[in-house]
Amino acid sequence: MQEREKFGSRLGFILVSAGCAVGLGNVWKFPYMCGKYGGAAFILIYLIFLVLLGFPIMVCEFSVGRSSQKSCAASFRELEPPGSRWHNYSYLGIAGNYLLMMFYTVVAGWMLYYCCRSLTGEFTGQSLTVDQVAAKFGEMTGSPGTLIFWMVLAVVISFGICSLGVQKGVEKITKIMMICLLALIAVLAVHSVTLPGAGEGLRFYLIPDFERMMEQGLGNVVFGAMSQAFFTLSIGIGALAIFGSYLDKDRSLSGEAVSIALLDTLVALLAGLIIIPACFSYGIEPGSGPSLIFITLPNIFNQMAGGRVWGTLFFLFLSFAALSTVVAVFENIISFAIDLWGWERKKAVLVNILLLILLSMPCALGFNILSGIQPLGPGSGIMDLEDFLVSNNILPIGSLIYLMFCTTRYGWGWEDFIQEANTGKGMRFPAAMKGYMTFILPAIVLLIYLKGYWDMFAGQGTGYLLPWMAAAVLFLAFTGWSILGRDRDQKKKGSTK
Ligand code: ALA
Repeated sequence: MQEREKFGSRLGFILVSAGCAVGLGNVWKFPYMCGKYGGAAFILIYLIFLVLLGFPIMVCEFSVGRSSQKSCAASFRELEPPGSRWHNYSYLGIAGNYLLMMFYTVVAGWMLYYCCRSLTGEFTGQSLTVDQVAAKFGEMTGSPGTLIFWMVLAVVISFGICSLGVQKGVEKITKIMMICLLALIAVLAVHSVTLPGAGEGLRFYLIPDFERMMEQGLGNVVFGAMSQAFFTLSIGIGALAIFGSYLDKDRSLSGEAVSIALLDTLVALLAGLIIIPACFSYGIEPGSGPSLIFITLPNIFNQMAGGRVWGTLFFLFLSFAALSTVVAVFENIISFAIDLWGWERKKAVLVNILLLILLSMPCALGFNILSGIQPLGPGSGIMDLEDFLVSNNILPIGSLIYLMFCTTRYGWGWEDFIQEANTGKGMRFPAAMKGYMTFILPAIVLLIYLKGYWDMFAGQGTGYLLPWMAAAVLFLAFTGWSILGRDRDQKKKGSTK
């Protein structure tokens, strides 16, 4: 077995983990949610959930990774009490990473494509109408060849970076990407807030509007904030745990988790500062998801002075955000084969390039040849199904498992967890959180999980709602059955107690 490579610097660890967190969630979801749910009123609730939900689960993941020195494919087996079955979660964790990448690579390809198209002046100086800009997006998604070409490019670039190793590839290149991303976002935000008429957008985005929040229903706002915290931090699939396994014991883990969450939040807030004032300045309604990025914003760049430059810089920023996530998750994917079967990195990279290209095909083809497949209801597609499986299922359930593993004595246990989290200099993990993490947080996570299903299907009639709710409960029961239970006579392996 090869010796495990480590990060070269603390900054490298923080930027790579932040790179894993910063992505579509920050750009096409967060600003829209802020606008819809009352601006800073939503930000306040989101920050509370980041602290109450994101922070403890992040520390759990980093602790499991650092103590086991393994990815989620092998970490549970390493730390679980003998005879227990927590390691069965590894399969779901692995599936979560692959599923996330099965659509993320396609969208990363879109970003690269739009970056090149903006550079060649496709959206500027052509007096395109709003419909023509929308048609360009339709042309891209309607062409299987285009989608596959750019998806393959995103896969090859990202695995190419991983093939160079942890320090020389993932750490070095993600550091450069993240520093460029932060510089670009600052320049773009300053430009956007100085556009004529941007002030109204700033007020809409940043002034707490509790009335607007209550109009949307407090329950929806709260659940929106909680789900966003899961997705944006990529918690629950071991995507962060892997970076704990490349970390030395110099620093305690809580302080590092706080820095990463702050960076992620900063990028999300600045993304809103770019998007919302620009929309107001050009009198365009800010939407969400793909249409915000690929129709609304190109329309704005089409009308803006110097739009070609600003459009290219914006899509370059988005390409860095998407690729930093893809590189981080690919590193996790590569480490599965290394940890499980002792494969050489090069072999793991080559096999996974082919695998990911194949696995990303359904999403790419779901916009054209396979557009008739609408598993989540009319208008949905294969990408929506993959996103739903990861975001509404594996992330919350995986987070629940990390939590239970770190808090109950039937898993790794609180003492071992807290000892690992607090090893090194820096902030101590608040020990008072034990009761909250053992009982209250799991209940919150379960609620989010079931509410996710409800929101998705309640509007589509009982024909959809009942089978999907039954599937949710069965999935939960099956996961519980798979991991719980153990031979209690055996002594805990590697325990410090
Ligand atoms: N954390 C990643 C994002 O926000 C998945 O896009």
